[in-house]
Amino acid sequence: MGIDQREYRQRREQLMAKIGNGTAIFRSAPTAVMHNDVEYVYRQDSDFFYLTGFNEPEAVAVLAPHHEEHRFVLFVQPKDLEKETWTGYRCGVEAAKTVYGADEAYSIDELDEKLPQYLIKADRIYYHLGRDRIFNNVILSHWQRLMAGYQKRGTGPIALEDTHPILHPMRLVKSEAELELMRKAAAISAQAHNRAREFARPGRYEYEVQAEIEHTFRQEGGIGPAYPSIVASGANGCILHYIENNCQMQDNELLLIDAGCSYGYYNGDITRTFPVGGKFTPEQKAIYEIVLEAQLKAIEEVKPGKPYNEFHDMAVCVIVKGLLDLGLLRGDLEEIIKEEKYKPFYMHRTGHWLGLDVHDVGVYKHNEETWQTLQPGQVLTVEPGIYISPHIKPTEGQPEVPKNWRGIGVRIEDDVLVTASGNEILTSAVPKLIEDIESV
Ligand code: GLY
Ligand code: MN
Ligand code: MN
Repeated sequence: MGIDQREYRQRREQLMAKIGNGTAIFRSAPTAVMHNDVEYVYRQDSDFFYLTGFNEPEAVAVLAPHHEEHRFVLFVQPKDLEKETWTGYRCGVEAAKTVYGADEAYSIDELDEKLPQYLIKADRIYYHLGRDRIFNNVILSHWQRLMAGYQKRGTGPIALEDTHPILHPMRLVKSEAELELMRKAAAISAQAHNRAREFARPGRYEYEVQAEIEHTFRQEGGIGPAYPSIVASGANGCILHYIENNCQMQDNELLLIDAGCSYGYYNGDITRTFPVGGKFTPEQKAIYEIVLEAQLKAIEEVKPGKPYNEFHDMAVCVIVKGLLDLGLLRGDLEEIIKEEKYKPFYMHRTGHWLGLDVHDVGVYKHNEETWQTLQPGQVLTVEPGIYISPHIKPTEGQPEVPKNWRGIGVRIEDDVLVTASGNEILTSAVPKLIEDIESV
């Protein structure tokens, strides 16, 4: 299972067909220090990985479709057996060609010397100005030097263009091989959630549940968590990014778990909320029913041709209606939606693209009025929630929230693939209906 070299090559060809006489440059992700001389586990930049499958730091990929011999060039860390003894295997310059399909490869130390030959005939440079300011300056100074000779030569890049608007629409629609990895990431994530639900009970700690989840990720061949796992009991469920996971779970509390596995660089992202002691209180059940209905109805809006905002709008509508019925909101449905008076209860959007990044790339809007249209091969999350913080403050004119509703946080999140006929829920192996999550 995985992406083969042919697919990486096709992606590069597809990109090169779009940049004409330009040269595109991609930089590997930097390493990150955890403390002193210990580094975090390396994670390649997703754009770089998408085009190369190459998983080492200190690398630069150049795509120069107009170059006669070297259309794909890799600059990599050279082999160095002594350094590799300490910091791990390096592929080296030769294998960059034989294994990764580069037409030419160099040591990263030769970048300044070798890069200009791939830029001098380009009409523009495609490069995303990223967070690495030093490397941004490397590219800008090459451009500046080339332009200094433009008058004499009459050739050279006269513009810098961002790579994202070209590359990210490609990443947004997943291939069969990518979907296979995403299905596996979803399946492991689902397995972990099911194990967590069986394990959780009053008296146990949130971190014990986290350990069960992350054990499954690794045990099943995943890289690990796709993002810091959220295991939030009781009112902790009202904190969207609660990751302390250090509280003891009590009877009569809900447990909100938002955790996903990264597998082969692709990510799962699932949230489930269930009663720690096996039975919902009436208030918890009422909130859960609204969120579940919002999620099910929102998923129905995920199909080809639908504008991206419609599943979110549907979720908001169901949530507001439900809160009005419970008396937690007051007034006219449309006005509450228009004036966003539901926001103290529901402050985030209903989903995001999912792929190599958990919050994956691709525009949501083409311009102020036009949303992206859903199309087969896109994967997104559908994750409505209601969060009644102990400290919730109603907006003007809205009622105070009675005490018995406070401290309830519910989110339900699935990963959904847009298919030709509608959608496929990749994470349906984790139950969410009340009769399936309450214990008898
Ligand atoms: N766990 C991150 C998210 O749901 O967006
Ligand atoms: Mn999530
Ligand atoms: Mn999500």
